[in-house]
Order: sequence, then structure tokens, then C-alpha cells
Amino acid sequence: MRIAMIGSGYVGLVSGTCLADFGHQVVCVDKDPAKIEALNAGRMPIYEPGLDALVAENVQQGRLSFTTELKPAVAAADAVFIAVGTPSRRGDGFADLSFVFAAAREIAEAVDGFTVVVTKSTVPVGTGDEVERIIREIRPDAEVSVASNPEFLREGAAIGDFKRPDRIVVGAEDARAEEVLREIYRPLFLNQAPILVTGRRTAELTKYAANAFLATKITFINEIADLCEQVGADVQQVARGIGLDNRIGAKFLHAGPGYGGSCFPKDTLALVKTAQDAGTPVRLVETVVAVNDQRKRAMARKVVLACGGSVRGKTIAVLGLTFKPNTDDMRDAPALSIITGLQDAGAQVRAYDPEGMEAAKPLLRDVAYARDAYDCAEGADALVIVTEWNAFRALDLARLAQVMAGRVLVDLRNVYDHASVQRHGFHYVSIGRPGSGEA
Ligand SMILES: NC(=O)c1ccc[n+]([C@@H]2O[C@H](COP(=O)([O-])OP(=O)(O)OC[C@H]3O[C@@H](n4cnc5c(N)ncnc54)[C@H](O)[C@@H]3O)[C@@H](O)[C@H]2O)c1
Repeated sequence: MRIAMIGSGYVGLVSGTCLADFGHQVVCVDKDPAKIEALNAGRMPIYEPGLDALVAENVQQGRLSFTTELKPAVAAADAVFIAVGTPSRRGDGFADLSFVFAAAREIAEAVDGFTVVVTKSTVPVGTGDEVERIIREIRPDAEVSVASNPEFLREGAAIGDFKRPDRIVVGAEDARAEEVLREIYRPLFLNQAPILVTGRRTAELTKYAANAFLATKITFINEIADLCEQVGADVQQVARGIGLDNRIGAKFLHAGPGYGGSCFPKDTLALVKTAQDAGTPVRLVETVVAVNDQRKRAMARKVVLACGGSVRGKTIAVLGLTFKPNTDDMRDAPALSIITGLQDAGAQVRAYDPEGMEAAKPLLRDVAYARDAYDCAEGADALVIVTEWNAFRALDLARLAQVMAGRVLVDLRNVYDHASVQRHGFHYVSIGRPGSGEA
């Protein structure tokens, strides 16, 4: 199959590369010339484990290329995927679909022969209808079928997720579109990945329902963690105790500083808005959004309490900035609210992240960036683990105790255990475990 991928960000680049690796002929298009120039020079615009090697191999095999020229790529394609951003619209939180509709207009002008146009971007119910309307208005003669194929990959594990998905969801309104998408994903049926073919609107909603459910699960265990702290229970054991129940499942039950990232915050908000507009508000998800927002700031207060009630004039070392490990994505990362909260309380912040510092710099002010975890901790009154990068999982606590001015360790990811940290003289505060509270 000849495929054009419109948008070469996280999803477009990973999906396009993996589809090329399945044997398809893929052109990844982006309107950002710097991104395309970097890709053509073999430099990845994002940090994603394994991506550079997979891109290089498929470029070398002649199956994958990058361009800013949408028209020829679309004209030659059997299927055109739209993988542009759908950020929160300022003001009401609904998904900003301006990039999707702009792409649809450009595609309409370029299609040649029967083409399936597939929205891979996360888009609210009914967006496929509007994409189809736009294309038919501009090119009434075009032979186009519009389908939905939401993407479920996780940043940091994106290639594995794309190649071994739990399921593929295809929303198609006619047999031809279904046939083309089945052909595109055929290499995965051989791996027995279930394919669920639904109507277009159902596929669109399935993506939001999945993300809202996962965000709810995280928020649920975070609230249970708070309760654990008040009643002397251990959230990790509670999570294991419920997670071993197959009806619940163990994943997404790690208590922490609140969810962030490029998807959950905007997708939960967009679902809330869709449901309100439809006259069937999703109150549970509305509450999840509110609870999670409050939690990020509450984490800054937790650090202040761990430091004895004030951080004015103190230096706080923050380890981990990205919303999760193995990515350089800073979109809606909890670290942003936590650091700003600490600065508002009068702290100086030093920070270190293995991959996220360049992306963090424009988003934060007055932060001193360090070379590694120990450099970050040098002279600090307290150390806060915000993101559980592997590099922070086995820190030399004796060395930390030596270089730090204070002995406070706030572990917002429950990476360490109480006894081993206390042995080095630290006051240890974690999430939802005995001894998680203030000094
Ligand atoms: N990031 C994730 O983990 C993830 C996972 C599943 C789904 N999604 C969804 O996938 C979509 C894309 O997300 P992302 O994280 O890849 O976004 P991104 O911001 O990383 O990438 C989007 C890219 O599209 C390009 N673009 C915009 N308009 C264009 C146009 N008209 N022509 C060509 N290129 C254009 C931009 O320059 C940018 O490079 C979103 O809807 C998101 O919700 C993301």
C-alpha cells in the first residue's frame, strides 16, 4: 500500500515508520521544514527509544521518506492518514480541530484516484463527518472514503505498542475503506492483534472512552493514596490487593503526582465538553479532571510540608521533568505545576532530567539545570523525585546525603522504601504509604 502520513509528530512519525517496517511505502509529511530537514538528515525531532534505528533502516530500504510537499504524497497514496495535533482549544477545552480541517482541505485538493482518508489524530465524535463534508465540498468529483483509526500507542513504548497493539480500532462507513485498512494492518492480524471494525463515530468515541477510563483509574488510586496517608494504610499493597482481581487489573494503579502528558489532560477535557454539548454530562470524568488538577498543586504543598512548613529561601532539587520516563515530552507534565508551586512558595529550584530539559526550558522560569542527579542535589535542602526515570531508581543515597545541605527526600513515584532511605539519615516522604506525611 502507498501511504501518506500527514503530520510527523509523535504519532505520525512512529506510525509511519512502523507501517513502512510492515512493508508499505510511506511518505511522512510535515509542514514544519525544520522537522523534515532534521528527519532527512537522520536526526529525530523527538526522543523515543528505538525510533532512530527503525527510521534509518526503513529509509535505507527505500520504504520511508519525509517531505514538506503534501500534494504529491497525497496524490500517489492509497490511504492518507491525518496525524496532526488536536490540542485543547483555549477557553472551553474542546479539541482544537483547526489543524485537522486544514489538513482535510489540503488533502481534498490533492487526492487522485480512490483514496481512503483516515483520521488517526484523537478527534471528537463527528469529526469524520466534517472531514468528509470538507473534502466533498472542495472536490465533489473525488473518490474518497473517510475512516477513523484512533491510535493507542504510549510515548516511551511507542514502537512496541504500535507493532504489538492490544487491538486495532477501525471506524469505517463502507466496505472499501474497511478493506484498505484491513490490508494495511494485515501484518498485525498475523500476530493475532484483534481488529475491531465499527462505525466511524463509535471508533472516535472509543479513543476518548479509553483515555478517560485510564485517567479515572489513576485518579482513583491517587485518592485512595491520600486516604491511606490519613488512616495508616499502604497504597501499594492496596493496589496489589485490588489489581490481582482480573476484573480490575494491575495496570494504571500506581499512585503518583497526578496524570499529565499530551493526551489524558486534553482528551478528558474534550470528552467532558462533547458530553455537555450532547446533553449527557460525564460527571465522573468532570470530577477526575478537577481532582487531578488540584493534585498537581497539592504536590508542591506536600514538598513544603516535608520541609517543615516553609521552603522560603531553600533550594529544592527536582529529579525528572517529563510527564513520564523515556520521552522528552513536557506537555502538561506535573513537574510544571509542582515547580511553579515551589517557586511561588519562595524556593529556588534546581532540576535534572535525562531527556526533557531542552523542552522544559521555554516552559519554566528561573530554574537552574544540572548535569546529573548528584549535581542537581548539590547543596539542596530537599530532593524531589517527580519522574521515575531508571537513572533515579538506584541512586547512591550515601553520596546524596553527602552532597546535600538538607536531608529531605520526597519520592512522588514511590521508587524507594522507607527503611533504606532512613538508614542514610533522610526524612522520607512518599505517596500513600505509612510515614508519607509531613516532618
Ligand atoms: N502523543 C501520543 O502519545 C498520542 C497517542 C495517541 C494519540 N495521539 C493523538 O495523535 C495526534 C497527534 O499527536 P502528536 O503527539 O503526534 O502531535 P505532535 O504535535 O507531536 O505532531 C503533530 C505534527 O503535525 C504537524 N502538522 C500540523 N498540521 C499539519 C499539516 N496541515 N500538514 C502537515 N503537517 C502538519 C505539526 O507540524 C506537527 O509536527 C493528536 O490528536 C493526539 O491526541 C497522540
